[in-house]
Amino acid sequence: MWPNDRFIKLSGTELPIIQAPMAGSALSDMVVAVSQAGGLGSLACALLSVENARKELETIRRRTSRPINANFFCHQPPRENHPRELNWRRRLDAYYVQLQADSNTSTPNSARAPFDEKMCDLVMEFHPEVVSFHFGLPDKNLLLRIRKSGTKILSSATSVDEARWLEDQGCDAIIAQGFEAGGHRGMFLTEDVSTQVGTMALVPQVVDAVKVPVVAAGGIADARGILAAFALGAAAVQMGTAYLRCPEAQISPLYRQALNGTRDNETAITNVFTGRPARAIVNRLMREVGPMSEVAPEFPLAAAALAPLRAKSEMAECADFTPFWSGQAVRLSRELPAAELTKQLAAQVSENLKLLQIAA
Ligand SMILES: Cc1cc2nc3c(=O)[nH]c(=O)nc-3n(C[C@H](O)[C@H](O)[C@H](O)COP(=O)(O)O)c2cc1C
Repeated sequence: MWPNDRFIKLSGTELPIIQAPMAGSALSDMVVAVSQAGGLGSLACALLSVENARKELETIRRRTSRPINANFFCHQPPRENHPRELNWRRRLDAYYVQLQADSNTSTPNSARAPFDEKMCDLVMEFHPEVVSFHFGLPDKNLLLRIRKSGTKILSSATSVDEARWLEDQGCDAIIAQGFEAGGHRGMFLTEDVSTQVGTMALVPQVVDAVKVPVVAAGGIADARGILAAFALGAAAVQMGTAYLRCPEAQISPLYRQALNGTRDNETAITNVFTGRPARAIVNRLMREVGPMSEVAPEFPLAAAALAPLRAKSEMAECADFTPFWSGQAVRLSRELPAAELTKQLAAQVSENLKLLQIAA
């Protein structure tokens, strides 16, 4: 029934619907639910230690034999820059005073570590059908190990140049991530956010530029978006924000509440939370320090100085300093179990395709 079956054939899934990896927001429950429903469940490993990633993968493999995706960040580790980090803390000084937070307590920066040998060993051990990367691709030798194991390799592109580069490095499919997308921009050949492309313009241009299947991501949250993506030439969709309100999403009540009330024009691209551009629900820190700040240290170092502020404000049920990643289509998302959402989306696409064929 799907107008383009290239991704289904590549991944072995029943449906060309990928639940986007969402570091910090979705673990095994979500992955199992989506994969069991015929989609591709994705485990984001960027915030997990190797031990925790192993536990999640063990649980997933125990509960489903369907295809799954393991996802990793592959940024360059940040260079130490003490003056810049000091400047960042100074920029936040007034908030430490106001919240009576200790600027010296912070979380270690080991979270959001790039893909390495140990994570690669884990991939070899669990052999996910798909591995996807964000921020480019890892070291060639690691990539070769994955390719030799038969796992399909995907990565995000935010421009035609990035898509061509990923195809040249041997990616099996390209995720075209439009500007509407929630979470971090996968951009890696440029740092200029002002020229980032929307999904509607990006997908067909990437489809024209590469031979491998293209997955559309960004602002797709219902069957209409999926149909539009296929009309633009995509072979699958990757949906993040649409799955955030599912009960399987491991997010705080505060985050859930914020998603519930956020309108189309209440998210923005910001670097204040981690040092890298990402789309989040606008809050006090973004308004007063960003949304883009030249003072923010390199990814992921900006997060450390914020940790005491987050902790203090979250204790008071306040979201002034917490990143609530969200895409622009958040209003289209629904509170449904992930399996039901996946099945409903597929059924609605099927129904609408029939209607379009009748109308034609
Ligand atoms: C809460 C959240 C966390 C995300 N974390 C990751 C991640 O860990 N790895 C990744 O490749 N993409 C991540 N993304 C981006 C998604 O892969 C995808 O590009 C995006 O969700 C698509 O846009 P949408 O949110 O409008 O559906 C995240 C997105 C959200 C909303």
